[in-house]
Amino acid sequence: MDRRYRISFLTLFLAGCLQGNPIPRLLAGIDYLEENITCDKQFSLSRLQDSCIVAALACSIKELDTVKVECLDKAVHLESMQHHISMTATALQKTIDKENSTTDTSECICEDKRLEKSFKDFIQNIRHLTQAHAAKRLSS
Ligand SMILES: *[C@@H]1O[C@H](CO)[C@@H](O)[C@H](O)[C@H]1NC(C)=O
Ligand SMILES: *[C@@H]1O[C@H](CO)[C@@H](O)[C@H](O)[C@H]1NC(C)=O
Repeated sequence: MDRRYRISFLTLFLAGCLQGNPIPRLLAGIDYLEENITCDKQFSLSRLQDSCIVAALACSIKELDTVKVECLDKAVHLESMQHHISMTATALQKTIDKENSTTDTSECICEDKRLEKSFKDFIQNIRHLTQAHAAKRLSS
């Protein structure tokens, strides 16, 4: 990358952090969940479709509530885990708050039983959705 661009990218990134950009917290939350939570429950993933990213993220926020209810019964650091799940859900919500999600929600299904996956896949899916969403916003 050209040095000038790299600097302006860094500036943007830092400015974003100072203004409460949810992305760094979101990524920290995702890392925490991926490393520290194990769960046997199966998750319904939303397919990664360009027209459905916001809706898929909204579905993931709902699924995170399920994680709180169904995955923490053997948790050692219960409060810390609840905190990180809530933080991740809040950060996700902030990334889509400004969007017009109603238009795309109607045509997207939250639960697709054919796509039941493990907890790790669910977390990976959130990561991919977040990246796809950020890329889409940068390009529009
Ligand atoms: C996992 O939990 C431990 C103990 O709370 C913490 O020190 C560590 O940073 C966590 N992992 C991630 C990736 O956040
Ligand atoms: C939100 O959706 C409505 C209805 O489809 C549309 O008229 C409006 O322009 C959209 N707003 C934005 C910011 O995209």
